Amino acid sequence: MKTEQIVLIGCGAMGSALARGIAKKGDVNPSSVWVYDTNEERAKQLSRELGVKAAASLEEAVPLSRHLLVAVKPQDIDGLIQMLRGLVTPGQLVTSIAAGITIATLQNGLGPECKILRLMPNTPCLVGEGAIAMSAGKNVSEGEREEVMALLKPLGLTLQVPEKLMDAVTGLSGTGPAYVFLFVETLIDAGVTVGLNRDVASKLVIQTLIGAAKMLQEFKIHPAELRNNVTSPAGTTCAALQVLEETGFRSSMIKAVIEATRRAGEL
Ligand SMILES: NC(=O)c1ccc[n+]([C@@H]2O[C@H](COP(=O)([O-])OP(=O)(O)OC[C@H]3O[C@@H](n4cnc5c(N)ncnc54)[C@H](OP(=O)(O)O)[C@@H]3O)[C@@H](O)[C@H]2O)c1
Repeated sequence: MKTEQIVLIGCGAMGSALARGIAKKGDVNPSSVWVYDTNEERAKQLSRELGVKAAASLEEAVPLSRHLLVAVKPQDIDGLIQMLRGLVTPGQLVTSIAAGITIATLQNGLGPECKILRLMPNTPCLVGEGAIAMSAGKNVSEGEREEVMALLKPLGLTLQVPEKLMDAVTGLSGTGPAYVFLFVETLIDAGVTVGLNRDVASKLVIQTLIGAAKMLQEFKIHPAELRNNVTSPAGTTCAALQVLEETGFRSSMIKAVIEATRRAGEL
């Protein structure tokens, strides 16, 4: 891919993860990546670490860039729009990860001709295994969507969804790592309860999670079928699953996702 200039705006937790993924593992030359943060030292730190360029101002980097990646907090979006107004041109792609900030809000702020995309990533982007949902505004062509997806490839899997489903994505995969961490923590405690030491229980649970995830990914078999395959008549898995059904595991999970989705819509 020919490297076009990219400017990443906001070098906090998620912005740094995006910069690391793109500059370290992407098909992009770090010298064509700009980073900008109102906290100058954060941008300079990323520049030292990754060999990307720290911009002293948006005026320095934005006019040269094809891609603007916006990773500031939702409450800082209005201020950023004021700073970007007049700088962004219709030939540029503006991709925002600010939770709850709609394409319409960005479009209204930056101009009706602007090309806007909205993402909902999750924290496994930090290790290149993120689940990212992407919605694009009306001015963004299919080719441009693919261009952004190619840029995001080192961060994990990107899927296109209609913007109206972004709250559902937030409730499922955006919040999802926390569900998995709770599940893992609980299983480790269960292992300790049945007599394993914490270190052994922890290693067994994490490896079981990785192995099961890889089976799901590689075999492309429905999870219920994989579960049936390990459930022998009157065996241990049957006994465990009966308890999970009795105690409402499935309905708890579904209610949790519904509640997170509802809350995402409120914020
Ligand atoms: N963390 C997650 O799991 C997650 C998941 C999905 C989406 N997101 C979204 O990711 C975005 C960033 O979250 P984060 O946790 O990375 O936030 P963060 O750590 O606070 O980073 C935001 C950075 O942007 C800087 N900033 C503020 N206004 C700016 C401006 N006008 N121009 C340039 N830089 C500016 C902030 O500086 P100051 O600190 O000095 O204000 C800070 O360094 C949020 O919109 C969030 O909704 C996060």
